[in-house]
Amino acid sequence: MQDRYLDFINSPFGKSIASSLGLPMPVRLKRATAGYAAQPLAGVTALLAADAEATATGQVLAALVELGAAVQIAPAHPGLAPLKAAAQKAGIALQSEGGDSEPVAPVIVFDATGVSGAASLKQVYELFQPRLRRLPKHSRVVVLARATADTGSVEGATASMALTGFVRSLAKEVGKNGSTANLLVLGKNGDAWVKGALAFFTGANSAYVTGQVLTVDGAPKGVKAIASPEASLAGKVAVVTGAARGIGAAIAQVLAREGATVVGMDRPAEEGALGATLAPLNGVGLALDVTDPKAPERLASELISRFGGADIVVHNAGVTRDKMLRNMAPHLWDMVLDINLGAILRINDRLLQGALKDQARLVCISSIGGIGGNAGQTNYAATKAGVIGYAEALSQVLAKQGMAINAVAPGFIETQMTAAMPAANREVGRRINSLAQGGLPQDIAEAVTFLASPLAAGVNGQTLRVCGQNWLGA
Ligand SMILES: NC(=O)c1ccc[n+]([C@@H]2O[C@H](COP(=O)([O-])OP(=O)(O)OC[C@H]3O[C@@H](n4cnc5c(N)ncnc54)[C@H](O)[C@@H]3O)[C@@H](O)[C@H]2O)c1
Repeated sequence: MQDRYLDFINSPFGKSIASSLGLPMPVRLKRATAGYAAQPLAGVTALLAADAEATATGQVLAALVELGAAVQIAPAHPGLAPLKAAAQKAGIALQSEGGDSEPVAPVIVFDATGVSGAASLKQVYELFQPRLRRLPKHSRVVVLARATADTGSVEGATASMALTGFVRSLAKEVGKNGSTANLLVLGKNGDAWVKGALAFFTGANSAYVTGQVLTVDGAPKGVKAIASPEASLAGKVAVVTGAARGIGAAIAQVLAREGATVVGMDRPAEEGALGATLAPLNGVGLALDVTDPKAPERLASELISRFGGADIVVHNAGVTRDKMLRNMAPHLWDMVLDINLGAILRINDRLLQGALKDQARLVCISSIGGIGGNAGQTNYAATKAGVIGYAEALSQVLAKQGMAINAVAPGFIETQMTAAMPAANREVGRRINSLAQGGLPQDIAEAVTFLASPLAAGVNGQTLRVCGQNWLGA
């Protein structure tokens, strides 16, 4: 559904009215218009800084250069010496940042993996504070922290955790100009996998992801580093449930854009819409209700006979049947629980018995409603929180088999589901986030595609919120 306020506010007349009345002025976000390039940061300047004790600088610098960025340094920052040493070791030329009147680079990466204690956090302040007024629209800020358990000291763990509050607050400040700020937490084995995560978090693919904390650690058994983000899903087979429309259709499109062959599943009543979504993608439609008792077996045999199994499974099909619990009939409880949660478990149980290929990656669609809870959504929120627990628990089993599972929790996304909301609720739902607008199905699809791809090799068992930093459950 069209966001008329966003259209109005981005017209010259709307801008002047909004600024004189002090109304929110959301910036129209820049989203990806094509697949990942081999060097998605080619032509982009990235300012890289590090704290004086940072331990991931070499890997981060190499990743930015491999992604094509021209790397700039802040001339008078405490972490300059280790950064210069890493650049010299790798034979990388660093540019010096322009003066105080120049715009700041649109990508800022701060390696804060060495902060320990309150005093060393001042380095983060010193880097960002003087630059924020000059930050261009649509900028990407990525801060890297060491996982608290791996800092080796109480002071380190404290400082690492302090960075979450810093980044979440910074995201609320920079959202006004359509920029994002996110924190990547590096586990003991995470440094080697930082490149893929940086490709996503520094680019247009993460336009609606802000204020989030994601851990990057070791990859599942047998997974190799990616050479290039370009066409990273070429040759892969991806299943998407609920693919006929809305978020599921966008997921199918973005997976196909990155090279995957998509098998889309939806209810038999949606067969026409499913075919219309999949035909331009050269995908395969499967008119099958996820709750059909025969669905796990039919899907598994279809995948095995046609493709020898699937590399990617996205559990997107989902419904709401909202009622206050006191008024909720048992069939509304049962239906939501079965479609949104029961079916996922049954289908995966079957697919895990021989219908998944090596290094398969699974993604489940959760919801911020499952994190914050919503009056009238006890059934829905239970399923969406269940999905988060499921991904967390199953990830540990799958990692040993070389596979991974993660979840994506959408916020307010412009789809038929949200178009059906009462108008006042819809308008509030759109604005209560740091970017002051609803997301698009593409935003969820980009995050799912990242998690389904080798770019996210070091990400397992996690839930990534794609919500513009919605205030619900934040
Ligand atoms: N739209 C949002 O703002 C939002 C927010 C949070 C989470 N989500 C989640 O994202 C997912 C997609 O939502 P959407 O907004 O695109 O919804 P939608 O209603 O537009 O599309 C859902 C699709 O799932 C299919 N589906 C429903 N029941 C099915 C079944 N039993 N078997 C097979 N297919 C079935 C539908 O036919 C439809 O094509 C859902 O899991 C939803 O809970 C959406």
